[in-house]
Amino acid sequence: MARVELRSIGKSFGETTVLSNIDLDIADGEFLTLVGPSGCGKSTLIRIIAGLEPHTSGSIHIDGAPVDHLRPHERRVAMVFQNYALYPHMSVHANMALPLTMQHLSPWERVPLLRLASARRRRVMPEIGREVRSVAAQLQIEALLARRPAQLSGGQRQRVALGRAMVRHPDVFLMDEPLSNLDAKLRVHMRSELTDLHHRLKTTFIYVTHDQVEAMTMADRVAMMDSGRILQLGTPTELYARPANVKVAQFIGSPAINLLPVRISDGGMAELSGRPIGVRTALSAGSVGTIGLRPEALCLLLPDSPRDAASLDARLRRIENLGAECMLYLDLEGHTVIVRVASAAGLLPGDVVALGFDPASAHVFDAAGDRAEAAQPAPPTVRLASRVPAAS
Ligand SMILES: Nc1ncnc2c1ncn2[C@@H]1O[C@H](COP(=O)(O)OP(=O)(O)OP(=O)(O)O)[C@@H](O)[C@H]1O
Ligand SMILES: [Mg+2]
Repeated sequence: MARVELRSIGKSFGETTVLSNIDLDIADGEFLTLVGPSGCGKSTLIRIIAGLEPHTSGSIHIDGAPVDHLRPHERRVAMVFQNYALYPHMSVHANMALPLTMQHLSPWERVPLLRLASARRRRVMPEIGREVRSVAAQLQIEALLARRPAQLSGGQRQRVALGRAMVRHPDVFLMDEPLSNLDAKLRVHMRSELTDLHHRLKTTFIYVTHDQVEAMTMADRVAMMDSGRILQLGTPTELYARPANVKVAQFIGSPAINLLPVRISDGGMAELSGRPIGVRTALSAGSVGTIGLRPEALCLLLPDSPRDAASLDARLRRIENLGAECMLYLDLEGHTVIVRVASAAGLLPGDVVALGFDPASAHVFDAAGDRAEAAQPAPPTVRLASRVPAAS
């Protein structure tokens, strides 16, 4: 187990800066995910922690001690790669044993024929074999130990790669998109297996993904990255409920949050296409910003419901029936808005419906995309409903 501290980590490839000023404290035993769009620097950062890539500036401490000068195998970290990086000519057993043979035997003790002369090898190999079988049992791959990687399914290869990391009993597991080569169903299954593994091992996990669902469902905390910076660090709930930046709001949540460009009136009210939408903001009059509304924050109003500023007329374009719930795609002043409802019974594409929302549920972002608090949200006066009869 170990605490990992990153201090002002910077990284450039030639003229190109890919990481700037990354400060991150990862607690002992924590499961932290690094999430963000492709190219934002997630792999570069995790490779720097592993010692596979030198950083240009800053420092890394593991359990209080600097590790910048240490080589990868000296850092007591183990990395699981997206492509598994297994040796195709070796059996599963040999692949899993490799980190231990590298650690405990000298190069000549690993050479065929010569190695037979080593007393240390005769002593160490049974211990390594026991360790490999014990980890294989935990991952339920004992029956596969004699096979080569080519004779395994994607999910089985992924377990072998995980097993190869586990045999070393590292202080920190570093995982770079380990599930992204698996099909959707297996990914969901392996997600819960990895979470269980983390609970069992109680080791620090740093996990890279560009899949916000993985980030949200597995991690204690999520660091959302963009263009080589950390935009927000917090629990999954914090990132979802209080995104610090419009990019975080957009990235976290499925379906994505609805974003509406607004202008602030003299009275501080947000206006969409010149119409007030019932959200009072702390932004200055005349400025522009963005209002974010989660699909579940919007609802359809009953036809006889009293309307106020927070009700918006929209035209239904498409209904996506997911069984347990429906997604309504609506056109609101030229913007597509998604509303999550329990049922779309009675609704047809082309219907004009009234949308309502509690102004307190609106996220307000300034022109730079940073979160701005909504000022004294007015209590909702409309009666909310999740379904309405067909409007004509
Ligand atoms: N060896 C390299 N030389 C030059 N540029 C590099 C090198 N490695 C990465 N980069 C650049 O650094 C940036 C960050 O790359 P990185 O692989 O860390 O992104 P990522 O967040 O892991 O993306 P993905 O989700 O696609 O894996 C990218 O713009 C990439 O082109
Ligand atoms: Mg990557």
